Amino acid sequence: MSRFTEQYYSKGVSGLRERKMAGFFGKALGVTGGNGLLGRNLMSQAINSCCAFMSSMPAVNSTAMPRMPDFAHTPAPYGGPSAEEVLSLRKQFLSPSLFLHFKKPVMIVEGKMQYLYDERGRRYLDAFAGIVTVSVGHCHPAVTEAINRQNQLLQHTTTIYLNNQVAEYAKDLADRMPGNLKVVYFVNSGSEANDMAIMLARLYTGNWDVICLRNAYHGMSIGTMGTCGQHTWKQPMPQGFGYHHALNPDPYRGVYGDDGPRYAADVADLISAATPGQVAGFVAETIQGVGGAVPLAAGYLPEVYKMIRGAGGVCIADEVQTGFGRTGSHYWGFQRQGVIPDIVTMAKGIGNGLPLAAVVTTPEIAASMASRLHFNTYGGNPVCSAGGRAVLQVVDTERRQQHCAEVGAHLVERLTALAAKHDIIGDVRGAGLMLGVELVKDRKTKEPAKVETAAVMESMKDMGVLMGKGGLHGNVFRIKPPMCFSRKDADFLVEVMDLAISRL
Ligand SMILES: Cc1ncc(COP(=O)(O)O)c(C=O)c1O
Repeated sequence: MSRFTEQYYSKGVSGLRERKMAGFFGKALGVTGGNGLLGRNLMSQAINSCCAFMSSMPAVNSTAMPRMPDFAHTPAPYGGPSAEEVLSLRKQFLSPSLFLHFKKPVMIVEGKMQYLYDERGRRYLDAFAGIVTVSVGHCHPAVTEAINRQNQLLQHTTTIYLNNQVAEYAKDLADRMPGNLKVVYFVNSGSEANDMAIMLARLYTGNWDVICLRNAYHGMSIGTMGTCGQHTWKQPMPQGFGYHHALNPDPYRGVYGDDGPRYAADVADLISAATPGQVAGFVAETIQGVGGAVPLAAGYLPEVYKMIRGAGGVCIADEVQTGFGRTGSHYWGFQRQGVIPDIVTMAKGIGNGLPLAAVVTTPEIAASMASRLHFNTYGGNPVCSAGGRAVLQVVDTERRQQHCAEVGAHLVERLTALAAKHDIIGDVRGAGLMLGVELVKDRKTKEPAKVETAAVMESMKDMGVLMGKGGLHGNVFRIKPPMCFSRKDADFLVEVMDLAISRL
Protein backbone atom coordinates (compact mmCIF):
# COMPACT_ATOMS: atom_id res chain seq x y z
CA MET A 1 0.00 0.00 0.00
CA SER A 2 1.22 3.45 -0.77
CA ARG A 3 2.38 6.01 1.75
CA PHE A 4 -0.67 8.14 0.98
CA THR A 5 -3.12 5.37 1.80
CA GLU A 6 -1.37 4.64 5.09
CA GLN A 7 -1.47 8.28 6.09
CA TYR A 8 -5.05 8.39 4.98
CA TYR A 9 -5.86 5.49 7.28
CA SER A 10 -3.62 6.65 10.07
CA LYS A 11 -5.54 9.92 10.08
CA GLY A 12 -8.51 7.80 11.11
CA VAL A 13 -10.50 8.22 7.92
CA SER A 14 -13.56 6.02 8.18
CA GLY A 15 -14.42 3.01 6.05
CA LEU A 16 -17.40 4.97 4.79
CA ARG A 17 -15.18 7.61 3.24
CA GLU A 18 -12.97 4.90 1.81
CA ARG A 19 -15.99 3.27 0.20
CA LYS A 20 -17.11 6.65 -1.13
CA MET A 21 -13.65 7.06 -2.62
CA ALA A 22 -14.00 3.61 -4.21
CA GLY A 23 -17.35 4.67 -5.63
CA PHE A 24 -15.82 7.83 -7.02
CA PHE A 25 -12.95 6.03 -8.74
CA GLY A 26 -15.30 3.28 -9.89
CA LYS A 27 -17.52 5.83 -11.58
CA ALA A 28 -14.53 7.61 -13.05
CA LEU A 29 -13.51 4.32 -14.66
CA GLY A 30 -17.05 3.60 -15.78
CA VAL A 31 -17.44 0.68 -13.37
CA THR A 32 -20.99 0.27 -12.21
CA GLY A 33 -22.40 -2.05 -9.53
CA GLY A 34 -19.70 -2.10 -6.86
CA ASN A 35 -21.06 -5.31 -5.34
CA GLY A 36 -20.00 -7.63 -8.13
CA LEU A 37 -16.64 -9.38 -8.11
CA LEU A 38 -15.52 -7.73 -11.32
CA GLY A 39 -16.60 -4.31 -10.17
CA ARG A 40 -14.82 -4.62 -6.85
CA ASN A 41 -11.60 -5.87 -8.42
CA LEU A 42 -11.56 -3.01 -10.85
CA MET A 43 -12.25 -0.55 -8.10
CA SER A 44 -9.43 -1.90 -5.95
CA GLN A 45 -7.12 -1.60 -8.92
CA ALA A 46 -8.34 1.93 -9.50
CA ILE A 47 -7.66 2.84 -5.87
CA ASN A 48 -4.23 1.21 -5.98
CA SER A 49 -3.18 3.08 -9.11
CA CYS A 50 -4.60 6.33 -7.85
CA CYS A 51 -2.84 5.92 -4.51
CA ALA A 52 0.42 5.20 -6.33
CA PHE A 53 -0.06 8.48 -8.18
CA MET A 54 -0.93 10.39 -5.03
CA SER A 55 2.07 9.04 -3.10
CA SER A 56 4.20 11.32 -5.24
CA MET A 57 2.28 14.30 -3.84
CA PRO A 58 3.56 16.19 -0.77
CA ALA A 59 2.95 14.15 2.42
CA VAL A 60 0.00 15.08 4.60
CA ASN A 61 1.21 16.31 7.98
CA SER A 62 0.67 13.49 10.48
CA THR A 63 2.91 14.46 13.37
CA ALA A 64 0.70 13.07 16.13
CA MET A 65 0.15 9.70 14.58
CA PRO A 66 2.96 7.10 14.62
CA ARG A 67 3.76 5.88 11.14
CA MET A 68 4.14 2.26 10.22
CA PRO A 69 7.53 1.41 8.69
CA ASP A 70 7.51 1.42 4.90
CA PHE A 71 7.12 -1.92 3.17
CA ALA A 72 7.33 -2.62 -0.54
CA HIS A 73 4.36 -4.84 -1.25
CA THR A 74 1.12 -4.15 -3.06
CA PRO A 75 -1.71 -6.42 -1.97
CA ALA A 76 -3.73 -8.13 -4.69
CA PRO A 77 -7.21 -6.72 -5.30
CA TYR A 78 -9.77 -8.59 -3.23
CA GLY A 79 -12.88 -9.81 -4.98
CA GLY A 80 -14.63 -11.96 -2.38
CA PRO A 81 -17.59 -11.32 -0.07
CA SER A 82 -17.55 -8.30 2.25
CA ALA A 83 -16.56 -8.55 5.92
CA GLU A 84 -20.23 -8.19 6.88
CA GLU A 85 -21.16 -11.08 4.59
CA VAL A 86 -18.34 -13.24 5.97
CA LEU A 87 -19.43 -12.48 9.54
CA SER A 88 -22.96 -13.48 8.71
CA LEU A 89 -21.80 -16.77 7.07
CA ARG A 90 -19.62 -17.48 10.06
CA LYS A 91 -22.51 -16.88 12.47
CA GLN A 92 -24.79 -19.11 10.44
CA PHE A 93 -22.46 -21.99 9.58
CA LEU A 94 -19.55 -22.06 12.00
CA SER A 95 -19.32 -22.98 15.67
CA PRO A 96 -21.03 -20.62 18.12
CA SER A 97 -18.04 -21.16 20.45
CA LEU A 98 -15.71 -19.25 18.15
CA PHE A 99 -14.55 -15.87 19.40
CA LEU A 100 -13.30 -12.70 17.75
CA HIS A 101 -10.59 -10.50 19.22
CA PHE A 102 -12.12 -7.14 18.34
CA LYS A 103 -15.49 -5.47 18.78
CA LYS A 104 -15.16 -4.24 15.21
CA PRO A 105 -13.71 -7.39 13.63
CA VAL A 106 -10.85 -7.30 11.15
CA MET A 107 -10.97 -9.42 8.00
CA ILE A 108 -7.57 -10.55 6.79
CA VAL A 109 -7.18 -11.64 3.18
CA GLU A 110 -3.44 -11.42 2.54
CA GLY A 111 -0.16 -11.60 4.43
CA LYS A 112 3.44 -10.80 3.59
CA MET A 113 6.20 -11.36 6.17
CA GLN A 114 5.23 -9.40 9.34
CA TYR A 115 2.33 -7.55 7.70
CA LEU A 116 -1.30 -8.41 7.07
CA TYR A 117 -3.82 -6.82 4.71
CA ASP A 118 -7.56 -6.52 5.05
CA GLU A 119 -10.05 -6.76 2.22
CA ARG A 120 -9.68 -3.07 1.48
CA GLY A 121 -5.90 -3.30 1.17
CA ARG A 122 -5.19 -1.71 4.53
CA ARG A 123 -1.90 -2.87 6.03
CA TYR A 124 -1.51 -4.01 9.65
CA LEU A 125 1.59 -4.82 11.64
CA ASP A 126 1.09 -8.37 12.84
CA ALA A 127 2.36 -8.70 16.40
CA PHE A 128 0.59 -12.00 17.08
CA ALA A 129 1.50 -14.18 14.06
CA GLY A 130 -1.80 -16.06 13.84
CA ILE A 131 -1.40 -16.98 17.50
CA VAL A 132 2.37 -17.55 17.49
CA THR A 133 2.16 -19.74 14.43
CA VAL A 134 3.68 -17.79 11.55
CA SER A 135 7.28 -18.19 12.63
CA VAL A 136 9.40 -16.96 9.72
CA GLY A 137 6.89 -14.63 8.06
CA HIS A 138 3.59 -14.72 6.22
CA CYS A 139 4.05 -16.42 2.85
CA HIS A 140 7.83 -16.44 3.30
CA PRO A 141 9.13 -16.94 -0.26
CA ALA A 142 11.41 -19.88 0.58
CA VAL A 143 8.66 -21.74 2.45
CA THR A 144 6.05 -20.99 -0.21
CA GLU A 145 8.45 -22.14 -2.92
CA ALA A 146 9.16 -25.43 -1.13
CA ILE A 147 5.44 -26.07 -0.61
CA ASN A 148 4.59 -25.22 -4.22
CA ARG A 149 7.35 -27.43 -5.58
CA GLN A 150 6.17 -30.42 -3.55
CA ASN A 151 2.55 -29.62 -4.31
CA GLN A 152 3.23 -30.15 -8.03
CA LEU A 153 4.97 -33.47 -7.44
CA LEU A 154 3.02 -35.37 -4.83
CA GLN A 155 0.55 -34.16 -2.23
CA HIS A 156 -0.21 -37.25 -0.23
CA THR A 157 0.66 -40.89 0.26
CA THR A 158 0.79 -41.70 4.03
CA THR A 159 3.65 -43.56 5.63
CA ILE A 160 2.65 -46.94 4.14
CA TYR A 161 5.03 -46.03 1.29
CA LEU A 162 8.52 -44.65 1.43
CA ASN A 163 8.86 -40.96 0.69
CA ASN A 164 12.00 -38.88 0.95
CA GLN A 165 10.39 -35.73 2.40
CA VAL A 166 9.18 -37.14 5.70
CA ALA A 167 12.36 -39.16 6.29
CA GLU A 168 14.70 -36.25 5.55
CA TYR A 169 12.56 -33.91 7.59
CA ALA A 170 12.65 -36.23 10.64
CA LYS A 171 16.45 -36.22 10.41
CA ASP A 172 16.59 -32.42 10.08
CA LEU A 173 14.44 -32.06 13.20
CA ALA A 174 16.32 -34.70 15.22
CA ASP A 175 19.61 -32.96 14.31
CA ARG A 176 18.34 -29.87 16.13
CA MET A 177 17.51 -31.72 19.35
CA PRO A 178 19.85 -32.14 22.32
CA GLY A 179 20.63 -35.42 24.11
CA ASN A 180 19.11 -38.62 22.88
CA LEU A 181 15.91 -37.03 21.54
CA LYS A 182 16.12 -38.73 18.16
CA VAL A 183 12.77 -40.34 17.31
CA VAL A 184 10.12 -38.19 15.64
CA TYR A 185 6.35 -38.71 15.30
CA PHE A 186 4.53 -36.34 12.98
CA VAL A 187 0.94 -35.33 13.73
CA ASN A 188 -1.27 -32.40 12.76
CA SER A 189 -1.82 -30.21 15.80
CA GLY A 190 -0.39 -29.31 19.18
CA SER A 191 -3.27 -31.03 20.97
CA GLU A 192 -2.56 -34.27 19.13
CA ALA A 193 1.14 -33.95 19.92
CA ASN A 194 0.48 -33.49 23.64
CA ASP A 195 -2.04 -36.36 23.71
CA MET A 196 0.57 -38.56 22.14
CA ALA A 197 3.31 -37.41 24.53
CA ILE A 198 1.13 -38.29 27.51
CA MET A 199 0.25 -41.67 26.02
CA LEU A 200 3.98 -42.37 25.51
CA ALA A 201 4.70 -41.33 29.11
CA ARG A 202 2.01 -43.66 30.43
CA LEU A 203 3.06 -46.61 28.27
CA TYR A 204 6.75 -46.21 29.04
CA THR A 205 6.40 -45.79 32.79
CA GLY A 206 3.39 -48.00 33.41
CA ASN A 207 2.06 -45.18 35.60
CA TRP A 208 -1.00 -43.06 35.08
CA ASP A 209 -0.81 -39.74 36.93
CA VAL A 210 0.45 -36.61 35.24
CA ILE A 211 1.47 -33.37 36.94
CA CYS A 212 0.75 -30.16 35.07
CA LEU A 213 0.56 -26.50 36.03
CA ARG A 214 -2.20 -24.14 36.96
CA ASN A 215 -2.57 -21.50 34.27
CA ALA A 216 -1.30 -23.99 31.65
CA TYR A 217 -2.73 -24.50 28.16
CA HIS A 218 -1.86 -27.61 26.16
CA GLY A 219 -4.80 -28.03 23.78
CA MET A 220 -8.50 -28.62 23.34
CA SER A 221 -8.79 -32.39 22.80
CA ILE A 222 -10.54 -34.27 25.61
CA GLY A 223 -7.15 -35.47 26.85
CA THR A 224 -5.32 -32.17 26.73
CA MET A 225 -8.27 -30.20 28.11
CA GLY A 226 -7.59 -32.08 31.33
CA THR A 227 -4.04 -30.72 31.41
CA CYS A 228 -5.21 -27.11 31.06
CA GLY A 229 -5.16 -25.03 34.22
CA GLN A 230 -7.61 -22.28 33.27
CA HIS A 231 -11.38 -22.54 33.56
CA THR A 232 -11.74 -20.62 30.30
CA TRP A 233 -10.52 -23.66 28.38
CA LYS A 234 -12.48 -26.37 30.16
CA GLN A 235 -15.87 -27.66 29.09
CA PRO A 236 -18.04 -28.75 32.03
CA MET A 237 -17.43 -32.47 31.56
CA PRO A 238 -14.83 -35.09 32.58
CA GLN A 239 -11.57 -34.29 30.78
CA GLY A 240 -9.25 -37.21 30.99
CA PHE A 241 -8.27 -38.59 34.36
CA GLY A 242 -5.18 -38.42 36.48
CA TYR A 243 -4.14 -34.80 35.89
CA HIS A 244 -2.99 -32.85 38.94
CA HIS A 245 -2.30 -29.12 38.79
CA ALA A 246 0.65 -27.78 40.76
CA LEU A 247 1.08 -24.21 41.99
CA ASN A 248 2.07 -22.01 39.11
CA PRO A 249 5.67 -20.77 39.42
CA ASP A 250 4.61 -17.32 38.23
CA PRO A 251 7.22 -14.69 39.18
CA TYR A 252 4.68 -11.82 38.98
CA ARG A 253 1.52 -13.25 40.59
CA GLY A 254 2.75 -16.43 42.26
CA VAL A 255 2.98 -16.76 46.05
CA TYR A 256 6.77 -17.31 46.10
CA GLY A 257 7.78 -14.69 43.53
CA ASP A 258 10.70 -15.86 41.40
CA ASP A 259 11.81 -18.63 43.77
CA GLY A 260 11.57 -21.71 41.52
CA PRO A 261 12.71 -24.34 44.05
CA ARG A 262 10.01 -23.24 46.55
CA TYR A 263 7.29 -23.81 43.98
CA ALA A 264 8.90 -27.14 43.09
CA ALA A 265 8.23 -28.33 46.65
CA ASP A 266 4.53 -28.22 45.80
CA VAL A 267 5.11 -30.85 43.12
CA ALA A 268 6.62 -33.15 45.77
CA ASP A 269 3.53 -32.55 47.93
CA LEU A 270 1.24 -33.27 45.02
CA ILE A 271 3.03 -36.53 44.19
CA SER A 272 2.67 -37.77 47.75
CA ALA A 273 -0.89 -36.48 48.32
CA ALA A 274 -2.67 -37.00 45.00
CA THR A 275 -0.92 -39.97 43.34
CA PRO A 276 0.18 -43.47 44.38
CA GLY A 277 3.67 -42.00 44.79
CA GLN A 278 4.58 -42.95 41.24
CA VAL A 279 3.76 -40.76 38.24
CA ALA A 280 3.75 -41.06 34.47
CA GLY A 281 5.14 -37.60 33.95
CA PHE A 282 5.12 -33.86 34.10
CA VAL A 283 4.23 -31.45 31.30
CA ALA A 284 4.92 -27.71 31.07
CA GLU A 285 5.90 -24.89 28.77
CA THR A 286 8.93 -22.86 29.84
CA ILE A 287 7.08 -19.63 29.11
CA GLN A 288 3.31 -20.11 29.34
CA GLY A 289 1.83 -18.74 26.14
CA VAL A 290 -1.96 -18.68 26.38
CA GLY A 291 -1.50 -18.11 30.12
CA GLY A 292 -0.10 -14.65 29.32
CA ALA A 293 3.61 -15.03 28.49
CA VAL A 294 4.48 -16.19 32.01
CA PRO A 295 8.07 -17.43 32.33
CA LEU A 296 8.48 -20.20 34.90
CA ALA A 297 10.33 -18.98 38.00
CA ALA A 298 14.11 -19.38 37.90
CA GLY A 299 15.42 -22.78 38.91
CA TYR A 300 11.98 -24.47 38.79
CA LEU A 301 12.40 -27.07 36.07
CA PRO A 302 15.68 -28.64 37.25
CA GLU A 303 14.12 -29.35 40.69
CA VAL A 304 10.86 -30.65 39.28
CA TYR A 305 12.53 -32.84 36.66
CA LYS A 306 14.54 -34.50 39.48
CA MET A 307 11.38 -35.13 41.53
CA ILE A 308 9.40 -36.48 38.60
CA ARG A 309 12.15 -38.86 37.53
CA GLY A 310 12.55 -39.90 41.18
CA ALA A 311 8.85 -40.86 41.15
CA GLY A 312 9.29 -42.99 38.03
CA GLY A 313 7.98 -40.39 35.59
CA VAL A 314 9.22 -38.69 32.43
CA CYS A 315 9.40 -34.98 31.66
CA ILE A 316 7.53 -33.46 28.73
CA ALA A 317 8.36 -30.01 27.38
CA ASP A 318 5.62 -28.32 25.39
CA GLU A 319 7.53 -26.24 22.83
CA VAL A 320 4.47 -25.38 20.76
CA GLN A 321 5.06 -21.64 21.30
CA THR A 322 8.59 -21.39 22.70
CA GLY A 323 10.45 -23.44 20.09
CA PHE A 324 12.52 -22.64 16.99
CA GLY A 325 14.51 -19.73 18.43
CA ARG A 326 11.61 -17.46 19.34
CA THR A 327 12.86 -16.86 22.88
CA GLY A 328 16.13 -15.52 21.47
CA SER A 329 18.56 -16.95 24.01
CA HIS A 330 18.05 -20.57 22.93
CA TYR A 331 16.59 -22.63 20.13
CA TRP A 332 14.28 -24.49 22.57
CA GLY A 333 12.50 -22.94 25.54
CA PHE A 334 13.50 -25.69 28.00
CA GLN A 335 17.18 -24.82 27.43
CA ARG A 336 16.52 -21.57 29.29
CA GLN A 337 16.26 -23.63 32.49
CA GLY A 338 19.18 -25.93 31.63
CA VAL A 339 17.16 -29.15 31.41
CA ILE A 340 16.75 -31.86 28.78
CA PRO A 341 13.25 -33.35 28.65
CA ASP A 342 12.41 -36.95 27.75
CA ILE A 343 9.66 -35.95 25.33
CA VAL A 344 9.24 -32.67 23.41
CA THR A 345 6.09 -31.56 21.65
CA MET A 346 6.00 -28.92 18.93
CA ALA A 347 3.40 -27.34 16.63
CA LYS A 348 2.41 -23.86 15.42
CA GLY A 349 5.74 -22.24 14.39
CA ILE A 350 7.07 -25.58 13.15
CA GLY A 351 5.01 -25.19 9.96
CA ASN A 352 4.71 -21.39 9.60
CA GLY A 353 0.95 -21.98 9.30
CA LEU A 354 0.87 -25.47 7.78
CA PRO A 355 -1.14 -28.04 9.77
CA LEU A 356 1.92 -29.73 11.18
CA ALA A 357 3.08 -30.85 14.64
CA ALA A 358 5.57 -33.30 16.07
CA VAL A 359 6.58 -35.30 19.12
CA VAL A 360 10.26 -36.05 19.60
CA THR A 361 11.49 -38.58 22.14
CA THR A 362 14.21 -41.10 22.88
CA PRO A 363 14.45 -44.52 21.19
CA GLU A 364 13.78 -46.19 24.58
CA ILE A 365 10.54 -44.33 25.16
CA ALA A 366 9.48 -44.80 21.54
CA ALA A 367 9.99 -48.56 21.90
CA SER A 368 7.22 -48.67 24.51
CA MET A 369 4.65 -47.99 21.80
CA ALA A 370 6.11 -50.40 19.28
CA SER A 371 4.19 -53.47 20.44
CA ARG A 372 1.24 -52.01 18.54
CA LEU A 373 1.01 -50.16 15.23
CA HIS A 374 0.94 -46.39 15.01
CA PHE A 375 -0.74 -44.57 12.18
CA ASN A 376 -1.64 -40.97 11.43
CA THR A 377 -3.13 -40.27 7.99
CA TYR A 378 -1.72 -36.80 7.42
CA GLY A 379 1.23 -36.87 9.82
CA GLY A 380 4.38 -36.35 7.77
CA ASN A 381 2.42 -35.46 4.66
CA PRO A 382 4.94 -34.63 1.86
CA VAL A 383 3.71 -31.05 1.36
CA CYS A 384 3.81 -30.26 5.10
CA SER A 385 7.19 -31.99 5.44
CA ALA A 386 8.65 -29.94 2.56
CA GLY A 387 7.30 -26.74 4.16
CA GLY A 388 8.56 -27.74 7.62
CA ARG A 389 12.04 -28.44 6.27
CA ALA A 390 12.09 -25.02 4.61
CA VAL A 391 11.10 -23.38 7.92
CA LEU A 392 14.07 -25.00 9.67
CA GLN A 393 16.41 -23.79 6.94
CA VAL A 394 15.05 -20.23 7.04
CA VAL A 395 15.37 -20.06 10.85
CA ASP A 396 19.06 -20.98 10.44
CA THR A 397 20.02 -19.03 7.33
CA GLU A 398 18.24 -15.85 8.41
CA ARG A 399 19.62 -16.21 11.95
CA ARG A 400 16.14 -15.78 13.41
CA GLN A 401 17.13 -16.79 16.96
CA GLN A 402 19.72 -13.99 17.14
CA HIS A 403 17.27 -11.60 15.53
CA CYS A 404 14.64 -12.44 18.18
CA ALA A 405 17.23 -11.83 20.90
CA GLU A 406 18.21 -8.42 19.48
CA VAL A 407 14.78 -7.07 18.55
CA GLY A 408 13.22 -8.60 21.67
CA ALA A 409 15.77 -6.88 23.95
CA HIS A 410 15.10 -3.56 22.23
CA LEU A 411 11.35 -4.03 22.56
CA VAL A 412 11.60 -4.93 26.26
CA GLU A 413 13.69 -1.81 26.84
CA ARG A 414 11.11 0.38 25.14
CA LEU A 415 8.17 -1.31 26.87
CA THR A 416 9.88 -0.96 30.24
CA ALA A 417 10.31 2.77 29.57
CA LEU A 418 6.62 2.91 28.70
CA ALA A 419 5.80 1.21 32.02
CA ALA A 420 7.63 4.05 33.78
CA LYS A 421 5.23 6.45 32.07
CA HIS A 422 1.95 4.55 32.51
CA ASP A 423 1.02 3.08 35.92
CA ILE A 424 -1.47 0.77 34.26
CA ILE A 425 1.42 -1.38 33.00
CA GLY A 426 2.03 -3.76 35.90
CA ASP A 427 4.58 -6.04 34.29
CA VAL A 428 6.68 -6.42 31.15
CA ARG A 429 8.04 -9.93 30.75
CA GLY A 430 9.09 -12.77 28.50
CA ALA A 431 12.07 -13.40 26.27
CA GLY A 432 13.02 -12.75 22.67
CA LEU A 433 9.88 -12.23 20.64
CA MET A 434 7.63 -13.97 23.15
CA LEU A 435 6.61 -11.06 25.35
CA GLY A 436 3.78 -10.13 27.67
CA VAL A 437 2.60 -6.75 28.96
CA GLU A 438 0.19 -7.07 31.89
CA LEU A 439 -2.26 -4.27 32.63
CA VAL A 440 -3.45 -3.73 36.21
CA LYS A 441 -5.72 -1.20 37.88
CA ASP A 442 -3.40 -0.91 40.83
CA ARG A 443 0.23 -2.00 40.97
CA LYS A 444 -0.09 -3.06 44.64
CA THR A 445 -3.27 -5.12 44.45
CA LYS A 446 -2.54 -6.20 40.85
CA GLU A 447 -6.25 -6.07 40.10
CA PRO A 448 -6.48 -7.04 36.41
CA ALA A 449 -7.39 -4.13 34.08
CA LYS A 450 -9.47 -6.33 31.83
CA VAL A 451 -11.72 -3.72 30.21
CA GLU A 452 -8.81 -1.35 29.64
CA THR A 453 -6.77 -4.14 27.99
CA ALA A 454 -9.55 -4.78 25.47
CA ALA A 455 -9.93 -1.03 24.83
CA VAL A 456 -6.20 -0.49 24.22
CA MET A 457 -6.07 -3.49 21.94
CA GLU A 458 -9.02 -2.23 19.91
CA SER A 459 -7.54 1.23 19.64
CA MET A 460 -4.13 -0.19 18.59
CA LYS A 461 -5.88 -2.23 15.92
CA ASP A 462 -7.53 0.95 14.64
CA MET A 463 -4.03 2.46 14.39
CA GLY A 464 -2.73 -0.56 12.48
CA VAL A 465 -1.23 -2.89 15.11
CA LEU A 466 -2.65 -6.35 15.78
CA MET A 467 -1.71 -7.87 19.12
CA GLY A 468 -2.95 -10.85 21.08
CA LYS A 469 -4.20 -11.00 24.62
CA GLY A 470 -4.25 -13.75 27.17
CA GLY A 471 -3.88 -14.71 30.79
CA LEU A 472 -6.67 -16.02 32.98
CA HIS A 473 -8.16 -12.53 33.25
CA GLY A 474 -7.53 -11.48 29.65
CA ASN A 475 -5.40 -8.56 30.84
CA VAL A 476 -2.06 -9.44 29.24
CA PHE A 477 -0.99 -8.27 25.80
CA ARG A 478 0.75 -11.08 24.02
CA ILE A 479 3.41 -9.79 21.63
CA LYS A 480 4.61 -12.73 19.57
CA PRO A 481 5.06 -11.54 16.00
CA PRO A 482 6.54 -13.39 13.03
CA MET A 483 10.26 -13.61 13.79
CA CYS A 484 11.14 -11.20 10.96
CA PHE A 485 9.57 -8.36 13.02
CA SER A 486 12.06 -5.49 12.92
CA ARG A 487 13.37 -2.87 15.35
CA LYS A 488 11.38 -0.24 13.47
CA ASP A 489 8.25 -2.36 13.86
CA ALA A 490 8.99 -2.58 17.58
CA ASP A 491 9.29 1.23 17.80
CA PHE A 492 6.03 1.68 15.91
CA LEU A 493 4.23 -0.78 18.19
CA VAL A 494 5.43 0.99 21.34
CA GLU A 495 4.47 4.43 19.99
CA VAL A 496 1.00 3.17 19.11
CA MET A 497 0.62 1.52 22.52
CA ASP A 498 1.69 4.73 24.21
CA LEU A 499 -0.95 6.69 22.31
CA ALA A 500 -3.66 4.07 22.92
CA ILE A 501 -2.98 4.00 26.67
CA SER A 502 -2.90 7.82 26.80
CA ARG A 503 -6.36 7.87 25.27
CA LEU A 504 -7.93 5.66 27.99
C1 LIG B 1 1.47 -24.33 24.41
C2 LIG B 1 0.42 -24.93 23.55
N1 LIG B 1 0.32 -26.26 23.49
C3 LIG B 1 -0.61 -26.85 22.71
C4 LIG B 1 -1.49 -26.11 21.97
C5 LIG B 1 -2.53 -26.78 21.13
O1 LIG B 1 -2.22 -26.65 19.79
P1 LIG B 1 -3.36 -26.84 18.66
O2 LIG B 1 -4.27 -25.68 18.73
O3 LIG B 1 -2.55 -26.93 17.39
O4 LIG B 1 -4.04 -28.13 18.97
C6 LIG B 1 -1.40 -24.71 21.99
C7 LIG B 1 -2.33 -23.88 21.20
O5 LIG B 1 -2.50 -22.71 21.41
C8 LIG B 1 -0.43 -24.11 22.81
O6 LIG B 1 -0.31 -22.78 22.88
